[in-house]
Amino acid sequence: MTAAKSNVLRRAGIHPDLASVLFTDAQIKRRVHSLAAEIKAVYGAREFTIVSLINGAVMFTADLMRQIDNPVRLDCIRVSSYGALTKSVGVPQVIASITIDITNRDVLLVDDILDTGKTLTLVAELIRKQKPSSLRSCVLLDKKSRREVPFQADFVGFDIPDKFVVGYGLDFAERYRNLPCIGVLKPAAQAAPK
Ligand code: IMP
Ligand code: MG
Repeated sequence: MTAAKSNVLRRAGIHPDLASVLFTDAQIKRRVHSLAAEIKAVYGAREFTIVSLINGAVMFTADLMRQIDNPVRLDCIRVSSYGALTKSVGVPQVIASITIDITNRDVLLVDDILDTGKTLTLVAELIRKQKPSSLRSCVLLDKKSRREVPFQADFVGFDIPDKFVVGYGLDFAERYRNLPCIGVLKPAAQAAPK
């Protein structure tokens, strides 16, 4: 990026570690609103149970839920993350599972991003063992070109290219989750985090 472009981003209040902004907070808000309508069109007025994959899906889940006026139940599941890496290594593991009963319930998995597909495949297998009456998934971002195991989400906010992105819940080494926009992290910011 040229120094001039970097200055433009800085003046616009964009975090200096971002090379570019993929989605502004206003664009995210609009898409979350329309995604909620897509979800409601499938469930009708029925109750369903959201299982949110934390930490990444925290912001997305909170905003999405508030756009849905169905009765909803919520639980969270924590799966091992990349640590301070930008590529998935090995097999993800469930660190903390759900505690509410989901047998015979309509379950919607909510995650921030679908990348290799390993995480959602693992969580979907685990949920299916508890015999929900239905299981669907919703991701804000989908990096389809990176898929290693076949997994298709039922609801997708945005398809994105193979770039490492942060903000709106997505992190690098636990940082940047609080950015209101989603942007591509500069390569220099991916080196040796403290
Ligand atoms: P998967 O198992 O490879 O599909 O990875 C899904 C998980 O990897 C997501 O829940 C994210 O936590 C993380 N992840 C994948 N791509 C990115 C990214 O570009 N930025 C931040 N986290 C990511
Ligand atoms: Mg995640």
